[in-house]
Amino acid sequence: MIILGIESSCDDTAAAIVKNGKEILSNIRASQDEFHREYYGVVPEIAARKHLQCILPLIEKSIKKAHVTEKEIDHIAVTTHPGLLGSLLIGVIAAKTLAYTWGKGLVAVNHLLAHMYSVHMTNCITYPYIGLLVSGGHTLLLHARSVLDIRIIGTTADDACGEAFDKVAKHLGLGYPGGPVIDKLAGKGDAHAVDYPFSSMKDKHGKYNVSYSGLKTAVIYQTDKFKKKKNPTKADIVASFQKKAIDTLYIKVKKAVEEYSINTVCIAGGVAANSYLRKIFSEDKGIQSFFPPLGLCIDNGAMVAGFAYHKIKHGDIEKEKSRLNPFARIIKSENLI
Ligand code: KG4
Ligand code: ZN
Repeated sequence: MIILGIESSCDDTAAAIVKNGKEILSNIRASQDEFHREYYGVVPEIAARKHLQCILPLIEKSIKKAHVTEKEIDHIAVTTHPGLLGSLLIGVIAAKTLAYTWGKGLVAVNHLLAHMYSVHMTNCITYPYIGLLVSGGHTLLLHARSVLDIRIIGTTADDACGEAFDKVAKHLGLGYPGGPVIDKLAGKGDAHAVDYPFSSMKDKHGKYNVSYSGLKTAVIYQTDKFKKKKNPTKADIVASFQKKAIDTLYIKVKKAVEEYSINTVCIAGGVAANSYLRKIFSEDKGIQSFFPPLGLCIDNGAMVAGFAYHKIKHGDIEKEKSRLNPFARIIKSENLI
């Protein structure tokens, strides 16, 4: 089964052709980083306009690169939620139009489930597992029971983890997006130079919940208060910040692993590219950790097409194409579906 996957939920326009849920025939992405850089964050209107500009040529390119014809495509899958509404609308309109004109099946995809599925594209993983989805917009701890049954057990009370990386980088004048720059610079710093507070929430707010606004504020305004080294460098500051931001996630995952008696852990989303995060999880012999390859951590069309394959197998395809709609938020709070 050949599926065209379209992703436009935030600031990356992406399209991919995937065969039978795993075989990536093409996976193309147009990053908008350069257009949002001067604002240190995604500007929704710019994002939507850029999607509009490049989505059709990008889809065309993904089909050409996969060496398939439009006739060979069985279904069209598109991210419908959650995300920026203006951005989602562009992908949804493109997918609907193509599905109508080419006479293809149309599949609505939850962006978060697609991110989690990205880990499966290059690994053989059995359910259940504890999932960690960390990106610029989301920080979720998940209990994954099957490909279509994934429950949220923890989240952030305020900023997402990736967002905290972006804001700290902005404050230190390191550019945008902040995650990759901090990751690189942290390698040259001393992670014990500043003892920032953990980003954990107290149990009454949900024992698996985190909060990044306190850590972010501590880095921006209180480095002097927490410093252990006399004159911490920028590299020391970001290494210390990164350690606390990631250690917090590690502690929460370990708690879930213990309480759910599950030792398989899958980590997805932009922050899953972080080298310190990969190191501490991989070095823990008490758990088996899986990650997507770096190219599938960021937003991409392959995870959308891959996940859609399983929805189709469960008969979950739009009966009436006209009814397909984007939503800014997830539809049910407990279960990601
Ligand atoms: O999944 P993604 O591409 O888009 C969203 O759905 O948000 O994630 C982007 C986020 C940004 O906040 C970026 O700073 C962060 O992922 N990120 C990283 C790294 N690479 C990207 N954070 C930490 N370390 C990295 N290496
Ligand atoms: Zn994403």
